[in-house]
Amino acid sequence: MLEVRGLRKAFGAVKATDGVDLALAEGAIHALIGPNGAGKSTLIAQLCGELRPDAGSIVLDGEDVTRLPAFARARKGLSRSFQITELCPDYTALENVVLSLMLTSGRAFQAWSNPRRDSGLVGGARRWLAEVGLGDRGDAHVRDLAHGEKRQLELAVALARSPRLLLLDEPMAGMGSEESSRMTTLLLGLKRRYTILLVEHDMDAVFALADRLTVLVYGKTIFTGTPDEVRAHPEVRSAYLGEQAC
Ligand SMILES: Nc1ncnc2c1ncn2[C@@H]1O[C@H](COP(=O)(O)OP(=O)(O)OP(=O)(O)O)[C@@H](O)[C@H]1O
Ligand SMILES: [Mg+2]
Repeated sequence: MLEVRGLRKAFGAVKATDGVDLALAEGAIHALIGPNGAGKSTLIAQLCGELRPDAGSIVLDGEDVTRLPAFARARKGLSRSFQITELCPDYTALENVVLSLMLTSGRAFQAWSNPRRDSGLVGGARRWLAEVGLGDRGDAHVRDLAHGEKRQLELAVALARSPRLLLLDEPMAGMGSEESSRMTTLLLGLKRRYTILLVEHDMDAVFALADRLTVLVYGKTIFTGTPDEVRAHPEVRSAYLGEQAC
């Protein structure tokens, strides 16, 4: 579904991505792991169109999207969520999802309509909230949500954009083990319905979810394989996993 070839991005002397190759199969969860600074977020920013690559290509469903701006890629179903939560803190959970639905449907400029009273938008937003386990939190303001709930909401905001390919940058960041296992269950529920590229440091979550893993170190993909193959790979064990994870 997604084919990345030789993707490069340098910030001055730092080669954040240094010739990344990646192939994602439709309906799979593909994890991208690697140490801090390996270039994972930079790769995601290039995939969704926030950062222009210096070289390389990104092909989605056979179409080269390398030069398409972010909004055009989002329309083709490439959607991301952020490593750091980016929600409107003064809005309720429901309003954040309504906003996402409005932006997706191109209705943001209908200033004369009140989106909060639009039963289609509100009903749709409520369904996405229920999907991520926040069915009873719609009226809570974002600032009053627990950290884990914010990440669940962020997922609802991403899902409301009707993505085909979800780019998730550390959805478990900052979570305790209980919140993290709730998010794992949530993502398992999305498996097969979406294609997911999952950047995550929580290896329990990665091994529970991923069909395939790619290991990125200093901007280079050093290995791609199944969870078992990655666990057994000596270079990966020493570079990233550590003996305790194996
Ligand atoms: N906008 C930027 N300007 C300059 N350098 C940057 C910028 N963004 C990233 N970098 C550098 O590029 C390298 C890769 O960073 P990136 O954030 O992609 O890593 P990461 O794998 O996501 O790390 P983490 O696991 O900590 O989130 C790092 O050396 C980082 O300092
Ligand atoms: Mg990152």
